[in-house]
Amino acid sequence: MNFYKLKDFDFNNKKIIVRVDFNVPLKNRKVIDDTKIRAALPTIEFLIKKKCKIILMSHLGRPKGKVIDELRLDPVAKKLSNILGKEVKKLDSCTGKEVEEAVAAMKDGDLIMLENIQFDHGEKENSKEYAEKLAKYADIYVNDGFGQCHRNYASFVAITEYLPSCAGLLVEKELNTMLPIINNPKKPYTAVVGGAKADKIETINSLLKKADKILIAGVLANTFLKAKGYNIGSSLFDEETIGLAKELADNEKIMLPVDFIIADKLDENSDDKIVKAEDIPDNRMALDIGNETVEKYNGIIKDAKTVVFFGTIGAFEIDKFSKGTEQILSAMASSEADTILGGGDSAAAADKFGLSDKMTHVSTGGGASLALFSGKELPAVKALEENYKKFK
Ligand code: 3PG
Repeated sequence: MNFYKLKDFDFNNKKIIVRVDFNVPLKNRKVIDDTKIRAALPTIEFLIKKKCKIILMSHLGRPKGKVIDELRLDPVAKKLSNILGKEVKKLDSCTGKEVEEAVAAMKDGDLIMLENIQFDHGEKENSKEYAEKLAKYADIYVNDGFGQCHRNYASFVAITEYLPSCAGLLVEKELNTMLPIINNPKKPYTAVVGGAKADKIETINSLLKKADKILIAGVLANTFLKAKGYNIGSSLFDEETIGLAKELADNEKIMLPVDFIIADKLDENSDDKIVKAEDIPDNRMALDIGNETVEKYNGIIKDAKTVVFFGTIGAFEIDKFSKGTEQILSAMASSEADTILGGGDSAAAADKFGLSDKMTHVSTGGGASLALFSGKELPAVKALEENYKKFK
């Protein structure tokens, strides 16, 4: 990987703009899992020691270029401030007068956090204009937001055209740990793809070239079953990717659940039971996989030498729908295989079941690690490599 690292620049007393991924779960406007915030601490603390003026940028959720009050970063800045025992001044904008004045008033070692970087549509459009405005606040750009390195966004890509740029310690660690396994996976190689984000299906085609088996769960499983013409009742699925699911559904490497735990609602007090995949009634939703599927999937995991897991199996945050996730993760934890978990929910689930320490690596990026394991180039990493050539 030819890009600059923190050790390559003189940071002393400089203004540094840092892209982090603080896309963390909130409940009642409070951070309920701070794993991603803590993962960026080594870089932030390194910069504090160097007496830098630190300008943090992050997204939260998917605001799609609009200001959405529930997606403001105030609770995140507060959490970081509590962890550091130091003020993190949260701004209400990403660019403009408020930011200029705040940056001008910064002292060595101060931190500010810009507002949700995706409130401006320029972020997702990889707008040069937006990136240039952001770059003007700093002397050096640091990318430590591994979780979104698979996105071609302004605060990851276009910004590197304007500043000397380097990877932070989290990005470096994630790549250093995962790339050797990606480049040389021990076989058989099994991927478990679940979770709530339907757009993961777009990487399955590439994953098929590398993995021996792909075990499908979560919302993706419902989309596949719908594509195969099954009744999925009121289960969540993704209309937009049904066509793609149809094309992939009969691939022999792809395994779909054969039974599910279904219920009338996503609630501990719901009326639940196990049914075969073909027997989901109209007014029920699939919320976890059933025992037969667990057995089938775990048999495959047991024989694998590499197992990667992107997205939880069922609605694990509710105990009665968490067994599938717990049993699959337990099978991974007790296997001799190289085991990688990707994404906030997967990491939270492994924590909940006390299994995180038993994995080879728990990545902060679900989509990003899935893209890497699918053999894709990460646009944000490519941008750092281009920047290295340019500023060499
Ligand atoms: C994540 O939580 O996986 C990352 O922050 C990426 O978010 P995105 O899928 O909305 O780009």
